[in-house]
Amino acid sequence: MIARMRAFVFRYFVIFCIAFASCKETPRQEVRRLPDGLLLGTATAAYQVEGAWNEDGKTENIYDYLTHTNTCYATDCGNGDVAANSYHMYKRDVEMMRELGIDFYRFSLSWNRLLPTSFPDKINQAGVDYYNNLINEMLKYNIEPVVTLFHWDLPQKLQQLGGWTNPHVVDWFGDYVKVAFELFGDRVKYWITINEPHQVCYYGYGTEMLAPALNLTGEADYLCAKNLLLAHARAYHIYDQEFRPKQDGMIFITINTEWYEPASDSDDDVEAANDLIQFRWGQYAHPIYSKSGDFPDVMKKRIGELSEKQGFLRSRLPEMSQEEIDYVRGTSDLFGLNHYSTYFSYRNVSTEQYYSQILGPSFNSDSGALTYQLPEWRIGESPITMYVPWGFYNLLTYIRNEYDNIPVFITENGMATHGGLIDNDRVTYYRGYMSAMLDAIEEGSNIMGYTAWSLMDNFEWLRGYTERFGIYEIDFEDPARPRTPRKSAYVYKEIVRSRTIDMNYEPDMSIPMTIDA
Ligand code: BGC
Repeated sequence: MIARMRAFVFRYFVIFCIAFASCKETPRQEVRRLPDGLLLGTATAAYQVEGAWNEDGKTENIYDYLTHTNTCYATDCGNGDVAANSYHMYKRDVEMMRELGIDFYRFSLSWNRLLPTSFPDKINQAGVDYYNNLINEMLKYNIEPVVTLFHWDLPQKLQQLGGWTNPHVVDWFGDYVKVAFELFGDRVKYWITINEPHQVCYYGYGTEMLAPALNLTGEADYLCAKNLLLAHARAYHIYDQEFRPKQDGMIFITINTEWYEPASDSDDDVEAANDLIQFRWGQYAHPIYSKSGDFPDVMKKRIGELSEKQGFLRSRLPEMSQEEIDYVRGTSDLFGLNHYSTYFSYRNVSTEQYYSQILGPSFNSDSGALTYQLPEWRIGESPITMYVPWGFYNLLTYIRNEYDNIPVFITENGMATHGGLIDNDRVTYYRGYMSAMLDAIEEGSNIMGYTAWSLMDNFEWLRGYTERFGIYEIDFEDPARPRTPRKSAYVYKEIVRSRTIDMNYEPDMSIPMTIDA
């Protein structure tokens, strides 16, 4: 009944969007002012940029292990051993932030660099020095650090102990983050607990696309989900109770929220889109941000019923006790949101027929919905970030309505290219998506920050160095790893400087990027 009502509300939301073309059209082509106080920044993550994989006491994480044991895990057989070499080049990185004039920079801590045994019995001073140097260098120039505690690089030792499927991970993560708050919390005021839980659990435990590449879908991905939520909540409570009173910062999780639009207004397609939202990111958003907490009803019901038909003695989605539900609910000061693209969603049989079959067990057969993207959404060489700004607008509007207009920090948004300094497609993407964000803000969405992913090219996980997200290009063939601003860097700088998006601004790239006074 509740599922039907939700589908009903969702359907009318979509019809409303179609009727009032604003969420369907390309953004308005004009000079648009950004609201005062909106923070603008860029981001990276430790494994993707730091390199120095075994230097100065750092030990092995799951990506070191995966890329060294399966040397062609990545499309180009690359790895993060050296990556962008930010461990040695952090001063140049901060110089780039100053060139752009950004308010903040989001980066992540490497657990193995700080705690070589994975536990707080030994703290690696060289790792502490590195992050202190980076943070202090940023603060010298009024660039706010936004620090992700976990961006996918779990210590390999903890993986051998089961990683996120072992309930003890809640203690391990809690012990680790406490060290981070103690070491850096006097200067770091924005903490992100975990980056993209669905990607960690589904792609890492349910498929082979991310480390640890277990490919145990329908089981390991759900065990991971519950433990990860509890670990996130542990970090929140530690900060809230022991550190916030003296350090006065904010702490939140970042969820990858792609937009799922019904392929038609049939009940089944509308329900397919709603189910995908619930399975792909509601699984994490609902327990934290909804009033009732817990996994979404549709997940509990479908996975429970299918598990029983499949002969399991209990649901493959582990139950959360009332105590656990209460422990997780409300544990995020903001909605940390990563967004890249949009998908049309549908079912090729009716929902009822679908669930009368016994498929799986797997995450995808549990959600039972299919997706596609339109070829005309592709605006560059890369197929992985299709250009659908109206989907971003719909997403932000949905979050405003669904979660009581919670403040949103957009912690990643960006587009891949295959290299080159004149990245006109990326410029189009940024202008279009920022403009869609402004549409949502004008209608009341409470958006406090926007982050361009990424400051520079980096190791793009499964795709190695073949897909480039940087607004600064890096020459990975050159041991000096030179960084060069792309056209998108010039355009982003102008957006930050003028606090406007001017669709027609053309930078003069013959003038070198300088640091404005
Ligand atoms: C991740 C980044 C990644 C980006 C582009 C996000 O899912 O947080 O680490 O590089 O997407 O694929």
